[in-house]
Amino acid sequence: MFTVLLALLLNPALANGNGKTGVSTQGCAQCHGGGTGSTTAEISGPAQLAPGETGDYILTVSNSDMSHGGLDVSATGGSLQAGSNNQLKSGEITHSSKTAMASGIVTFDFKWTAPASEGDFSLKGAGNAVNGDGQSRGDTPSSPVTFNITVKAAATDDTAEPTDDTSQPTDDTSVPTDDTSQPTDDSNVGGGDDSNTDSGGKDDGCGCSATPGVGGAALVGLIGLGMLRRRRA
Ligand code: HEC
Repeated sequence: MFTVLLALLLNPALANGNGKTGVSTQGCAQCHGGGTGSTTAEISGPAQLAPGETGDYILTVSNSDMSHGGLDVSATGGSLQAGSNNQLKSGEITHSSKTAMASGIVTFDFKWTAPASEGDFSLKGAGNAVNGDGQSRGDTPSSPVTFNITVKAAATDDTAEPTDDTSQPTDDTSVPTDDTSQPTDDSNVGGGDDSNTDSGGKDDGCGCSATPGVGGAALVGLIGLGMLRRRRA
């Protein structure tokens, strides 16, 4: 523990005041407390986006007793992008440094890009209103908040689909036209080709069918002759 604290003191980049991630769902009260007033954190922005669409979001921290604020926001899917006064750290949005409030309010802007497929997602955030003394004492964290976003294809796309559907019957009626033309093709192909092919086969004198035919006819003739002779005899 002492080693961890020493590392934080020696490496400002690791200091909590420069952003704290991994606590978006539990909040900051594990370490921060002892401040006055009551802190609210509120996430605002579009509650519905199309797949792949990017929306602008704001987390507002307010507590008129405090001078600065910080935040941690995570998303259950999609991707976050940092705004003007914050940074993306381990896939989450957090303050770059404690940010001064104006009239007890500080806002953090960021973006969220929806995944390519539809679904229900949420931004989970926690805010902290601090006194600016560079320590975790005398601060008032907010309760964790959740902002739900529905990712759904825009309604404009849905109304466009019926238009596509009505164009399909036109395609369907053109198919029967093709079908009725096919019998014409069939009669041409069947009649012409078949008789041609058959006669061609005979003309070629392939022999393989002609020979049994001749042999069979000869055999039948011989048997017939034999029977005739027996009857006559
Ligand atoms: C594991 C303990 C821990 C947690 C959890 C934690 N912090 Fe901190 N935070 C500290 C410590 C220690 C300091 C003072 C030293 C420093 O800056 O690292 C501090 C300082 C700060 C400061 C500057 C305070 C001031 O008065 O100047 C801000 C802002 C801050 N934290 C924001 C947050 C936010 C926002 C969260 C929650 C999303 C959070 N912290 C969660 C330990 C924590």
